[in-house]
Amino acid sequence: MVTKIQAAVHFIRSIYSENPTVGIVLGSGLGSFTAQMKIEKEIPYADIPHFPVSTVEGHSGKMIFGELGGKKVIAMAGRFHYYEGYTVEEVVFPIRVMKFLGIQTLLLSNAAGGMNIDYTVGDLMVIKDHISFFTPNPLIGKNVDEWGPRFPDMSEPYSKKLIAAAKSIAKEKGIDLKEGVYCGVTGPTFETRAEYKFLHVIGGDAVGMSTVQEVIVAVHMGMTVFAISVITDLGIREEENIITHAEVLEAASKAEPKLTYLFKELIAQL
Ligand code: HPA
Repeated sequence: MVTKIQAAVHFIRSIYSENPTVGIVLGSGLGSFTAQMKIEKEIPYADIPHFPVSTVEGHSGKMIFGELGGKKVIAMAGRFHYYEGYTVEEVVFPIRVMKFLGIQTLLLSNAAGGMNIDYTVGDLMVIKDHISFFTPNPLIGKNVDEWGPRFPDMSEPYSKKLIAAAKSIAKEKGIDLKEGVYCGVTGPTFETRAEYKFLHVIGGDAVGMSTVQEVIVAVHMGMTVFAISVITDLGIREEENIITHAEVLEAASKAEPKLTYLFKELIAQL
């Protein structure tokens, strides 16, 4: 694993020599975010040694280097989901690569199903905490002590400081920003009615098929993390309510301008 990461980092550095400090992972239907960036270099995942290749519709699969909010950033357009058949190591590989490229702050976005009855489709939810028990922990196996501790603290995986900053940016702009707990599940099935209810009862406000494994690795490696869910469907509703991937992508892209604004302003304040 260590040598694979080194090979990927070495390759990227041979193409792009700047030192970005902010990493951004873009979720389903949220890829056009990068139109806001001053793009300096794009590297398709397929070109990077040992990088998995994304297969899902709505994920273009490249690392984009450039400037946003006055900072050098790396944006990952497309991420690797466990349900695609990647190993957990593959899912978190890009996060480790970003760490070795010098990334200190990681911003993540995702599409998620809302379970909190106060939520509506198109809402943005700042993730204040997560429940990751339904997906394999990416730190299982021999610990690399130079990367982080064997038993990492998880009392504040999402930076309270960045959450507070995002809330004040949203308030000023009149964006209704929810704040809640994200449940990470494997997918690829959307949840049954009973499952949505269960996840809500145990404390979840939103549910999705990504993010938690990436966040665990980022926290382990000492990165500052901030994440936002775009609520794309409401599984908890009792009435007839069939959820489709197309609906998720559409709702995500509609909410994208709000998300882009928040990320950009947040990065400017870092
Ligand atoms: N469940 C799980 N993942 C999701 C959902 C959902 O309802 N919506 C978008 N991603």
